[in-house]
Amino acid sequence: MEWKLDRTSKKPLYKQIADFIEQGILTGMFSQDSMLPSERILAKELGVNRSTIVSAYDELQSLGIVERKKGSGTRISTDIWGVSHKRIPNWGRYMEDGSFLPNLPFVRRIRTETRKHNIINLSSGELSPSLWPNEQFRTIFTEHPFMEPLGYDHPMGNASLRETISAHVKEYRNINTSSSSMLITSGAQQALHLIVQCLLKPGDAIAIEDPSYFYSLPLLQSAGLKVYYLPVDQHGINPDDVEKLYKKHRIKMIFLNTSHQNPTGASLHPSRQKKILEISSELGIPIVEDDPYSLISFDGEKVSTLKSMDESGNVLYISSLSKIVASGLRIGWVIGPSKVINRLADAKQQVDFGHSIFPQWAADEFLKDPYFDAHISMLRDELKKRRDEIIRSLEVYLDEEVEFIPPKGGIHIWCRVKSAFNESQLLEESMKKGVSFVPGSVFGSGKGYVRFTYGRGETNLIQEGISRFADALKVCTRQ
Ligand SMILES: Cc1ncc(COP(=O)(O)O)c(C=O)c1O
Repeated sequence: MEWKLDRTSKKPLYKQIADFIEQGILTGMFSQDSMLPSERILAKELGVNRSTIVSAYDELQSLGIVERKKGSGTRISTDIWGVSHKRIPNWGRYMEDGSFLPNLPFVRRIRTETRKHNIINLSSGELSPSLWPNEQFRTIFTEHPFMEPLGYDHPMGNASLRETISAHVKEYRNINTSSSSMLITSGAQQALHLIVQCLLKPGDAIAIEDPSYFYSLPLLQSAGLKVYYLPVDQHGINPDDVEKLYKKHRIKMIFLNTSHQNPTGASLHPSRQKKILEISSELGIPIVEDDPYSLISFDGEKVSTLKSMDESGNVLYISSLSKIVASGLRIGWVIGPSKVINRLADAKQQVDFGHSIFPQWAADEFLKDPYFDAHISMLRDELKKRRDEIIRSLEVYLDEEVEFIPPKGGIHIWCRVKSAFNESQLLEESMKKGVSFVPGSVFGSGKGYVRFTYGRGETNLIQEGISRFADALKVCTRQ
């Protein structure tokens, strides 16, 4: 074949090949109903990978130009100019071209594996099933008649639930707000998504913690944002770093998980909180404070949030019931200036016409129930037991191999593994041995870390889980 690929062109190679063949059919170079060269032969002839030819043939098939049958090769469609041929969309390409990115590969792998096998789950960022208040929900469902209208609810969320959450954040988080400054969302996750979509545009620079949960969300990249990092130490981020990033990149928004941070467990020190609020109002940069964990401090002390000190409306405060009641409820909220909340509510209405009444009603009843206090105390005690259990297990099985700072609340522990290891190999080996964890790179940190979620593990299985992980680590660091 005389024709050559243009390797300097911006047009992908598979597309050049597909266009060349399509052109060849139009000019009669390839006759109708004839066979095209096999993928292997054409790949060799053009000096490309076989996968490039597969993509080119996929493209032509999606246009109805060729027909492919397993085992009998690729032929030019017999009905290329007719009306009857069926076109098969090139789903692979559609899926690659969509602007919303898929989850990180490690995240997808862990999710499917933990569902499939009988694995001790130290990876999912949620409470273990034995900590969900199922019994209390059963009581609510039997004792409280459901009387709510079943039409589309208020765009900002159910009015009664918003009143209840306003009282809840006042009592437990020292935040003064009102129901007109709050939007109910499908977990904290949807609140983050709405903020990114409504308040930022492609090319905007934002700052997130490193390591951080936000890093694990391709939604920031999907929105075309430039992401810069604020290193986290045991007291959270350093305010000076915010100023430096602002000077260099004109960051437009800061995303912080201020208490018992995922994954490090660190809480932002009060002196740093104050400084960060000062910087935020000096520079006019809004802060998105994501706070799913502040209620589960083991010493039971109220943790002060940035929002509780925010006098000028610089902070958008996000929280949810996922880590303190149950993740499957999908109840979250965002609190902020009412014009911003209205903008987010308008977007939420376009996306899903507002939140379903059933979880909102159940959440409202649960939060108003005097049992809520007892539930939170129980949760703190149980999570502390799990924290102690995982620390004991790490000391027994991995004393020489890992180091960590004991978390004072939350559900995660962040461990540095002292020897070098390959993350994929360790994950596969661990899952083979029946335990899951999350590799550190998911949270953006350099390799060499792992996150265990003790809150998801049942107390009697944590020790076994860490012992299996230790066996897997031995295999991976032996070389
Ligand atoms: C810091 C942080 N923010 C937000 C979320 C999302 O939680 P949800 O959407 O279930 O409220 C998580 C979940 O792990 C998290 O750790």
